[in-house]
Amino acid sequence: MFQGLQQKWKVSGLQLVLILFTFAVGGSLTGFVGRRMMNLVSIEQDWLWIIVYILIITLLWPAVVLFVSVFFGQYGFFLGYLGKIGKRMGLAKKMNKAQIPTSDTPMESTNSLPSHLPGATGRPTTHIAIFASGAGSNAQKIIDHFRRQGHIKISLIVCNKPGAGVLSIASKENIPAILIDKEKFFRGNAYTDELKEKRIDFIILAGFLWKIPAALIKAYPGKIVNIHPALLPKYGGKGMYGNHVHQAVINAKEKESGITVHYVDEHYDHGDAIFQTTCNVFENDTAESLAQRIHLLEHEHYPRVIEKILSGS
Ligand code: GRF
Repeated sequence: MFQGLQQKWKVSGLQLVLILFTFAVGGSLTGFVGRRMMNLVSIEQDWLWIIVYILIITLLWPAVVLFVSVFFGQYGFFLGYLGKIGKRMGLAKKMNKAQIPTSDTPMESTNSLPSHLPGATGRPTTHIAIFASGAGSNAQKIIDHFRRQGHIKISLIVCNKPGAGVLSIASKENIPAILIDKEKFFRGNAYTDELKEKRIDFIILAGFLWKIPAALIKAYPGKIVNIHPALLPKYGGKGMYGNHVHQAVINAKEKESGITVHYVDEHYDHGDAIFQTTCNVFENDTAESLAQRIHLLEHEHYPRVIEKILSGS
């Protein structure tokens, strides 16, 4: 059951424990506060008392759980969770409609604040492009992480593979996406004009399989990062992607694997490492089972590492 929840919510084991604690503490606190509030009103009829109590609890619960989630470091998760419940009840949609300005760029306006304005904190907005070629589970986690941070905006998804999952994510999240052409990427302007036009400040690679051309690195020096599903410098380089990496790790009978976040230079998986963390490799692991464990690590750490890089800490 717990593994099912972990997969459904795409969270690590530790995060699942913290989420369950939040539910438990939030639920108890809601009951407590609800009963206190009921003591303040005098209702004679039992049935009316029950209806009012249920109403109060229903209204209180989201606020209390959000409050408690801050202490367990799960505010981002619960904001998304309650947003989903709201959407299902038709509430969030109505809110979104009211928030969308009637400009001719509605796709950009729904992700966070309008791009030309400073973020909610008064800081100028950092515009990010995510480059991805695959399912986009990391892209989704990064989008979720920065959804409520007005000064950091995922402004563009760049993809080289028609039909890739990340394109559906872009359309669901109302983030503009471009499908790039190999010739133009490697022999043309590497899409630098388009990126500058969108005022992109920083590039995140999240499962992008093409090498980054020198023109792009020159245009964004020290502002392109990648995540690799192993402990670089081992198991990196050309052809080392997806399950090829994990199979190589298993074949070498490694006891540990992990993830590496690094700056991008002109070579595959080569720039300076920024962050690494490890997980076990078990004797009965397959490339698929190891990939699952690595993905959880990526989802837990990549957004936070990016936030740290952007904050300069
Ligand atoms: C991740 O494992 C990442 O390390 C690698 O590509 C994979 C992308 O997965 N660079 P997803 O598309 O984010 O699910």
